[in-house]
Amino acid sequence: MKVLVVGSGGREHAIIKSLAKSSLKPELFAAPGNGGISADAECVDIGAKDIEGIRDFALSRGIDLVVVAPDDPLVLGMVDALEDAGIKCFGPRKAAAAIEGSKIFAKDLMKKYGIPTAAYETFTDTSAALEYLRTSNFPVVIKADGLALGKGVIIAETAAEAEDAVRSMMEGGKFGESGKRIVIEEFLTGPEVSVLAFTDGTTIVPMVSSMDHKRALDGDRGLNTGGMGTVAPNPYYTADIAAECMEKIFLPTIRAMNEEGRQFRGCLYFGLMLTPDGPRVIEYNCRFGDPETQVVLPLLESDLLKIMLAVADGKLAQEEVRFSDDCSACVIMASDGYPGKYDTGFEISVNGELEGEIYYAGAKLSDGKLVTSGGRVLGVTSVANTLEDALGAAYRSVGKISFANAYCRRDIGARALAANR
Ligand code: AMP
Ligand code: GLY
Repeated sequence: MKVLVVGSGGREHAIIKSLAKSSLKPELFAAPGNGGISADAECVDIGAKDIEGIRDFALSRGIDLVVVAPDDPLVLGMVDALEDAGIKCFGPRKAAAAIEGSKIFAKDLMKKYGIPTAAYETFTDTSAALEYLRTSNFPVVIKADGLALGKGVIIAETAAEAEDAVRSMMEGGKFGESGKRIVIEEFLTGPEVSVLAFTDGTTIVPMVSSMDHKRALDGDRGLNTGGMGTVAPNPYYTADIAAECMEKIFLPTIRAMNEEGRQFRGCLYFGLMLTPDGPRVIEYNCRFGDPETQVVLPLLESDLLKIMLAVADGKLAQEEVRFSDDCSACVIMASDGYPGKYDTGFEISVNGELEGEIYYAGAKLSDGKLVTSGGRVLGVTSVANTLEDALGAAYRSVGKISFANAYCRRDIGARALAANR
């Protein structure tokens, strides 16, 4: 069986390493992959958004399953193009990927079907948005409608900041077309939880919960990043809360998408906030999270490839999806300066045995050596019986990996440990 994974980050590396354990013994390809991934899959030089290139490659090489991992190709309709050419895919079609591609679509869906989320209004007109801000409480949250590389959310503490944010999105073209339409929503508080779920549109099976660390600096300070580390499970997400989310959020979302004629198949990501009034949806993503995947899949005991095939075939109910009771922790090693300016091209060296797995993101091969090529360079994931031990092993492993301008947060999992006590 031949499987192609579209994408080039740590998430894709984690998916590939998990697929490699399948009893179906797949031959693995990545497009475009990266220098680190090339140790585990054949990397082909086709961009993740190149729909025709991916389709032609899949047809010519007889690929049995394409796993479309990143948001952009999903929102652009890569799965539609592949399925229409007779190629089996893991991932939602364009109409269903809108649940991430348009925040306005997602918010209106939740309102229509009574799925708990922050109160909001949508605007396409700057003066109406500014008028609304005059009656708002602060902080207030301002979101660009479309994809914005995870940077389309501004939490404005004051009226002046909010006005600046609205003008820069709607008039300044800060996020291009993505920002011409905006959502202004109520600021919520509480611990955040990420829940990824497999769904074939009928059955939904949540994976083990996780906690991301989005800010660049220790103590959750600094700029928002793509994620500096993760732990799983998330200690705030108790069995009672999980049951409540299944009843009030997960199943209603699947039903709502079916009602709208946009059946979702693939991995649906629920970004939740556990507020004093109960769980609320902060965002949906139409794909595996990064770096959540790097802690969730290492805990999967079942066969990922069989699960993905079952999702594609609409037979998820018949497939076993089992996770271990262990804990996992992923620490991201980034290029100092990320998410701002940073230098790349530094050799990555691993000195001695690691107590975990490396998932490469911004790494490429140059003259046979692995060198840095991006902001987030790699993640190290360790698994242990307790979160404390998993974190200890992950940080000991980080200590054995070096490149010239390496930077990592030193407090990944600290809040989770405190919640456990
Ligand atoms: P998003 O890109 O939608 O995940 O938003 C990025 C981050 O902004 C989230 O992880 C939250 O920490 C924060 N955020 C988004 N919406 C809200 C909200 N309504 N209230 C408080 N924080 C929010
Ligand atoms: N870790 C957040 C995301 O994947 O969007």
